[in-house]
Amino acid sequence: MKFKIAKGAVESFKADVIAIVCFEKETKKGEKPKPASLMKEDGGVAVDRKLKGGISKLISAEEFAGSEGKSKLIFTAGLVPARYVLLIGLGQKKAFGLETLRRAGSVVSKAAVDVKAKSVAVVFQKERVGEFGTPTRIQAFVEGMLLGSYSFEQYKKEEDRKRSVLETVFLVTAGNAPLFQKALFAGEATGKATNFARDLGNTPSLDMTPLVLARLAKEEGTKGRLHVSVMSEREIRAEKMEAFLSIARGSPQPPVFIHMQYKPARKAKAKVAIIGKGITFDSGGISIKPPKGMEQMKDDMAGAAAVIAVMRVIAQLKPHVAVDAYIPACENMPAGNAVKPGDVVRARNGKTIEIITTDAEGRMILADALSYASDKKPDYMIDLATLTGACVYAVGEKYAAVLGNDQRLIDKLKHSGERAGEPVWQLPLEKDYKKGLTRSIADLKNVGSSRADTINGALFLEEFVGETKWAHLDIASTSWTDEDLPYSPRGCTGAGVRILVNFITSL
Ligand code: BES
Ligand code: ZN
Ligand code: ZN
Repeated sequence: MKFKIAKGAVESFKADVIAIVCFEKETKKGEKPKPASLMKEDGGVAVDRKLKGGISKLISAEEFAGSEGKSKLIFTAGLVPARYVLLIGLGQKKAFGLETLRRAGSVVSKAAVDVKAKSVAVVFQKERVGEFGTPTRIQAFVEGMLLGSYSFEQYKKEEDRKRSVLETVFLVTAGNAPLFQKALFAGEATGKATNFARDLGNTPSLDMTPLVLARLAKEEGTKGRLHVSVMSEREIRAEKMEAFLSIARGSPQPPVFIHMQYKPARKAKAKVAIIGKGITFDSGGISIKPPKGMEQMKDDMAGAAAVIAVMRVIAQLKPHVAVDAYIPACENMPAGNAVKPGDVVRARNGKTIEIITTDAEGRMILADALSYASDKKPDYMIDLATLTGACVYAVGEKYAAVLGNDQRLIDKLKHSGERAGEPVWQLPLEKDYKKGLTRSIADLKNVGSSRADTINGALFLEEFVGETKWAHLDIASTSWTDEDLPYSPRGCTGAGVRILVNFITSL
């Protein structure tokens, strides 16, 4: 799928599908929705005229109200060069946001698959819509089209794949081409990288081992301006990362510690460290998980996947920010030599940890990664992890939980999440719950005693961040979906990519 900024009258555009957006009419409480009306700025009126009022007639006959997520496909019967007009409802204008456009983009992608369209044209009016200028709107729409076209079909036979044949998407605008081009580029990079993260999370652990993850990270290094190094088990041991290694022990798959580095050409305005949990399969270890739903634990490296994808985008967008990505990756398995409940291990920063459950393994591997990253003195450090099953009960499927030791950093992340369509909800890093983690024969135990597992997990991690400004994103709630969402099909969602890209590029 290629995107092109184009000029011209949309009604005479030679594309298979012309997409026309329209808002829902405002109605009072209890009032029936009114048929939508076409807008001149979006090309709707001009196309309707060519179709001899066909669109407006259809709108009133079928009572198309322009509700968000609703669309109608109209055959043009040769009255315009395009074969179809696709009407897309945007919902009410007062609720308009970038999320509306991501969803609209997804609707267009899906319709294009249905009619086997090779090309699509969409108009972007010059004026702001609400508070959103044309470049930001273009970016969100492009992201939505790419995200909405995603499907994971590598393991299906050829005939059963419903692949899109869409080659070109024309974004029809008047005005500042370089700015639009930049926005388009950012949307494309972010959307594609999110789909890449989804691929990593959806791939079975049989094929997505720590070594494969390391190879994929290395490949990013050969493409972009990234430096990628991978520590082997021996080097990890030399770093005294025994908390990490204790988890890796139960699997024949060797662990790796991946470091991806991006340095801007000019002096960096800030230095950011991002850390992703890379458990390529979480069986629970000796504290083995119940079988139901265990297959989803191939996605326990979603944090790592997002971090690798973010680095790909950063290498393309080249912000004036230095970014270091760290990924501890291993399997959590219950072999005969696996770590056992009651065992005590010494983490890299010297603290001893009593392992109460081997299923709280994410915090063990992140403990060492955070202490390592913190030693390099970043301005901000953010970890991304499918850390606790309780997260979804705390904040639901739409939000990731954010906790940390620096409110300004958390506020920035909240803002980025909002803009990027990946909202986060802050939970308190409650000091009073800390004692639950220290009642142990060791310095710490790996579970707390508060019933808020998500907070306990973050409190545990805090013990390893030192003085660094740090935030923890628990993406256990958002990284996987069991139902199709507006632009995320069932499976790994690629959560965390857009919020981090937005955060880093807006520093
Ligand atoms: N990977 C899981 C968390 C998880 C569960 C992510 C479900 C996505 C969906 C994590 O390693 C884990 O097992 N956490 C334990 C922690 C507990 C023992 C304190 C959990 O949530 O049960
Ligand atoms: Zn676990
Ligand atoms: Zn886990």
